[in-house]
Order: sequence, then C-alpha cells, then structure tokens
Amino acid sequence: MYDAIAREVISRCRSLATCSDEPGYTTRTFLSGSMRKVHADLSQWMTAAGMTVRVDAVGNIRGVHAATSSSARRLLIGSHLDTVPHAGAFDGVLGVVIGVALVESLRDRRLPFAIEVVGFSEEEGVRFGVPFVGSRALVGEVDEALLAVKDTSGTSISEAINTFGLDVSRIDEARVAQNPLGYLEFHIEQGPVLEQLRRPVAVVDRIVGRTYAEVTFVGAAGHAGTTPMDARRDALAGCAEWIGQVEGCARRSPGLVATVGRIGAEPGAANVIAGRCRVTVDVRHAENPVRAAAVDRLRADAADIAARRGLTLEWSPRFENGAVAMDASLVARLMRAVERTSTSPTMISSGAGHDAMILAAHMPAAMLFIRTPGGVSHHPDESVMESDVAVALAAGVNFLEELAGEDPPLHS
Ligand code: GLV
Ligand code: MN
Ligand code: MN
Repeated sequence: MYDAIAREVISRCRSLATCSDEPGYTTRTFLSGSMRKVHADLSQWMTAAGMTVRVDAVGNIRGVHAATSSSARRLLIGSHLDTVPHAGAFDGVLGVVIGVALVESLRDRRLPFAIEVVGFSEEEGVRFGVPFVGSRALVGEVDEALLAVKDTSGTSISEAINTFGLDVSRIDEARVAQNPLGYLEFHIEQGPVLEQLRRPVAVVDRIVGRTYAEVTFVGAAGHAGTTPMDARRDALAGCAEWIGQVEGCARRSPGLVATVGRIGAEPGAANVIAGRCRVTVDVRHAENPVRAAAVDRLRADAADIAARRGLTLEWSPRFENGAVAMDASLVARLMRAVERTSTSPTMISSGAGHDAMILAAHMPAAMLFIRTPGGVSHHPDESVMESDVAVALAAGVNFLEELAGEDPPLHS
C-alpha cells in the first residue's frame, strides 16, 4: 500500500544526494553551498504538503503542520541533512524525507497535535570537528564557546552562520516550542543486525555512549636523511604506535569500538620527520563505565608513549555523551505501530550516534531503524529496499493514528 510512496521517498533521497560540495560524490557539510539546494527542494515539498517552513539560525529547516488547535503540543519528526565525506544517499536524509511523506499522507487533515519536521543542519561533526550543532540549538545548548569553534580554514561557526545569510543573534529562536510531545526519528540501521534477523525495521531501545577527542603528539621536525634514528622525536611514529594500541584495546573488550578516523602529520613531507601528528579518536560502548575506563586507559597509553619518546601530548575533548535510553512509552507505541504492519516487532540498540540522543534529554524520544543492505553506510554504496521503506511509512502512519486517538496524546 505504501510502495509508491516509498519509491518517491527513495527517489527524493537520491535526488538530494546530488547536492554535494564535491563533484562525483555526496559530501555535504554544515552550511556549505550545497545545503541551499537541499533546503530549496525540501521547502518546496513541505510547502506543497501545507506546512509552514522556516530555516532557523543554525540552518535547520523546519516545516510545521498545524494541529486542530493552535495551543496543541508538537510532535517533532526529524534527522540530519549533512553528510560524511563520500556518503550514501540515506544516512539522515531518509528520516527527513519520511517525515515530509508522513505529513503528505495526512492530505491536509489536522491532528490533535502539530507535527514539526526538522532537517538538522549538522550532525556528523565533519566541518567543525564537533557533532550535533543542529539538534543542540533546539535544546538551547549552542553557547558562545561552541559558536567560536573554527573549521580548518579558520572560519568560526558564528561566521559560517552569518555567511550563509542567517542571523547568529537569533539562535534562541531555534529552541523547540514549549512542552513538545516528543521526537521521532527514522534512520537507516547502518549495520548488519536487521539483515541477520531478516526484519525490515526495528525499534531502537537505546543509543550507545560516545567519547570523541582530538589527540596531538608533538615532537621535533627534522631532516629524514641526516637525523640518526636514536636522536629523533618523531610525532608520527609515536602516534602510529598508539593507534595500534587503540585497536588492540577495543578488540580485547567485548562491545567496545574505538576508531582513529583522521590523521594529519606536519609539516607533511616525505623527507621531513613529523614534528606534530594530530588524530581523532572515537570510543563507544553501551555501558558508560566501560567506555570511561577505556578512554582513561587509552589516554594513559598515549602519555606513556609520549614520555618514552620525548614527545608531548595534547588531549582535547570534542564530544562526550553517555548511553541514552529511548522513551519507554513512545517505544511501546512504536512497537505496536510496527506490529500493525504485520511485521514482528523487534528492538535493537544503536551503535551509531543520532540527533535523538541530544533531544532525549529534553523530551520523550524514539527511533525506528530501517534495514541497511550489507550493513553498508558512510559509503556511496549505502542503500535501502523499497519494501522496507514502505513498512517504515506504514508504521509511521500507525504511530500517528494511535497518538491522534489518545485524549490527550501520550497520556500514559
Ligand atoms: C554518526 O554518524 C555517528 O558517528 O554515529
Ligand atoms: Mn552518519
Ligand atoms: Mn545519521
């Protein structure tokens, strides 16, 4: 029944994937030029669906479908519009496009609650090295310190906002309306579990905790041909030793994942010993104490290596969020919504971070995962199946109908 809508949803995601900062790939970072076309297309679809559209001061696009009463509470449905470099077409975008499709399916019918579809401007943390700028603005967590963070070209978040044509002084207006009903996010699973379980969708029970830091080893640059091996303070060699330890530590600890995803050596020439080496480290586990202990251990390992090699170590925290449980009452409704599509409802945890983890501290939040063929994500080959998207849409409609039938919505 939802196959044609699912086909249209996928086609919209693929068309938005062509809005890119880099020819031949989908790479769309926070407030880059390619985001304007994404906003234009979404705005057109939202307006045609009867929504009132605005772009807030951090670049989140927000379409509101009014309720039967102007004092009604608001249900947020959203995900992010920025991408990792060389991304696929569905991470983030799918959740926004599904939100619009759900409003379209109402065909101008008003519900006892308003629906606000949000396309977050920044979740991945690629441009400024800090994630969730978009969702943090909704909950009042974008402060002066965050606005002053600079990208590699020296542009601050504040400057990027103004250059995009937005007004940073109006950031408070990005805050979510009082007393929201909750937040719902549709997202691809980005892993192999649903494929193994042979299920199209799953309700998320919790999102694992994450620590993300920038780590710099500082030594001394020197001549690669004339500096004896025992007289070197090679920052890159010290860092490489530590990277091996990061991987080893995670391999030994069940459920722990740790990643060094970016490396930069300076001055960066084949015949110069690296004087500085800067990397990112991303550590995740479902249990906060296990993650915290692993981070302490990795930090101590880095300090040991630096001391032994005559290097200094700089450890700059970039992001820290404990594991987040989804709201039990929304989860129960979402499970029922899935069951009514004649799909066995199932629950899984998320190893990836999502905007829901920021909003969950401020309102009831829930997520529905959609099977990801091959578990392939953060990669151009990322895909979804039309029949799975159709199940997600049907579950979304069921979820809205159940909430609409409650008086007041979400009373228990
Ligand atoms: C978001 O994509 C994450 O890093 O989990
Ligand atoms: Mn992602
Ligand atoms: Mn995502």
